[in-house]
This record gives sequence, C-alpha cells and structure tokens, in this order.
Amino acid sequence: MRMADRFGIVTAGASGMGRAGAIRFAAEGAAVAVVDLDEAKAKEVADTIKAAGGQAFALAGNLMEEDFARGLVHETHKRFGRLDFLWAHAGHPSVSRVEGLDLKEFDVAMNLNVRAALASAIEAIPLMRDGGGGSMLFTSSTSGVIGSPFSPLYSVAKWGVIGLARSLAKRYGPDNIRVNVVCPGTTDTPMLDTLVSRPDETETHGKDLNELKRIRSSGNPMGRAARPEEVANVALFLLSHEASYVNGASLLVDGGKTA
Ligand SMILES: NC(=O)c1ccc[n+]([C@@H]2O[C@H](COP(=O)([O-])OP(=O)(O)OC[C@H]3O[C@@H](n4cnc5c(N)ncnc54)[C@H](O)[C@@H]3O)[C@@H](O)[C@H]2O)c1
Repeated sequence: MRMADRFGIVTAGASGMGRAGAIRFAAEGAAVAVVDLDEAKAKEVADTIKAAGGQAFALAGNLMEEDFARGLVHETHKRFGRLDFLWAHAGHPSVSRVEGLDLKEFDVAMNLNVRAALASAIEAIPLMRDGGGGSMLFTSSTSGVIGSPFSPLYSVAKWGVIGLARSLAKRYGPDNIRVNVVCPGTTDTPMLDTLVSRPDETETHGKDLNELKRIRSSGNPMGRAARPEEVANVALFLLSHEASYVNGASLLVDGGKTA
C-alpha cells in the first residue's frame, strides 16, 4: 500500500482527475477528504471509497471563498486527527479572449487557480510541520509551462501555481514538507469540454464537441487526450513516500506535447 496511514485532502475531488486521484489514493491506503462545490458528486466519490473498504468523507463548498479554502484543512485535521497530504487540484479554465477583456476575469482565474491553493496551503503547513512533515501537490497545466494560445489568463494563473509551489518547496523543505506540481496536458474530463467549447473561442463555431476534442488532441504525439487516471497515477507518486526526494518539481503529464 503506497499511501498507508496517510490522511489528506483532494480538492475538486468530485470529478475528473481529482475523483480518479481520491479513489486511487484510498485504494492505496489513504484516508481522503473529498472537497468540491458539487456536494452530490463529492458524496458519491466518498461513498465509492467507503464501499471498497476505504476511509473518506465529502466536504462541499466554494473554494473561491477564503474561509472555506482555509477551513477545509482544519475540518480534515479534526476528522482524521492528522494531515499528511494536500492535493490542491481545483482550477478555473478562464476565458480565451484578450481584446475587450474585463479584468474581473483575471481575478476569477487567479482566485481559484492560485489564491484557493495558497489559502489551503497556509493552513496545512503548520499542521504538517507539527505532524513531522507532509506532501503538497498543486495542479498547473502545460499552459503553465508554455504560453497558451487559448487563454492568456489561464497561463498567467497556472504559471503562478508553479511559482508558488517552487517557493514553498524551498521554504518548507527543512520542515520535511515537499511541494510539487503536476502539469496535465489535454485530459478527458468535463473541464476539457469547457476548454474546447468556450463561446469566445472563435474556431469553435459550428463544430461539435467530439470534433473539437479531436482537434485539441491531434497535435499530441500520443494522438489522444490523457485519461484522468493517467494523471492520478502521477499525483499518487508525487504525494507518496516514493517521491521522498522530489521537491519543487513540475511534472508534465502531457503525452509529449511540450517536448
Ligand atoms: N482537463 C484538462 O484538460 C486539464 C488540463 C490541464 C490542467 N487541468 C487542471 O485540472 C484541474 C481540474 O481538473 P479536471 O479537468 O479533472 O476537472 P473536472 O471538470 O473533471 O472537475 C472539476 C471539479 O472542480 C469543481 N469545482 C469547480 N469550481 C469549484 C469551486 N469554486 N470550489 C470547489 N470546487 C469547484 C467542480 O465541481 C468539479 O467537480 C484544474 O486545476 C485544471 O486547470 C485540466
């Protein structure tokens, strides 16, 4: 069991990569707080874990709200008695437009992609330190490594995620807290539907969703999008003790797209 006796949090855990991660971590022995805006789906994930003999609970709320993003850490610590890992996975796809952009969109992109992760990390650090250490994982994107032609705001925010993680990795390594980033490429989740079909994305007009997803994946050396489980496998590695000397890394899971 690669996550035996490890207690932690997955945000955006009700769907896609977060869901796949929560279920996988639990199968490897972890106890998981499944955090999401969608209460019914978060409960479904927690119930799936419990039905398989694992330990989990669902926590519903809006990560854009600072009190919730901070409070979920303490709620998890209270329920489990310790905190070993945090996967701050939630993010916002943002808009693709630049011209005519309302800068309120900048605040939204930064809020969910960066501010929410920071808010949870602020609360998790002292608890992990008191527990002898821990592991944090943030979710960036290929758009945080190369410029996104689709959404400059998304790139800004995902670049910020990597900057935050690298800084925390250096600062809290001495406390035995590792901080890493997973950078998925195109991954087949509901967010991908949003990413490819944003109404302000000019090339989408008149094309159906499957065609848009095929176009988005066609430039990839693997010729397809990632499955959520393929990203969850990497998250498992980075959060587990197997990655005990991996700190401040941004691991691309993009099928070679950025190679
Ligand atoms: N899917 C992709 O192609 C792709 C590629 C690179 C990076 N990412 C990143 O992966 C993460 C999203 O993962 P996914 O693709 O598995 O998404 P998904 O669409 O499957 O799930 C997103 C989940 O986030 C929850 N959520 C949305 N806003 C929330 C909020 N304010 N508070 C709490 N929960 C909220 C939703 O309810 C949903 O369950 C984001 O950080 C995203 O930027 C996705």
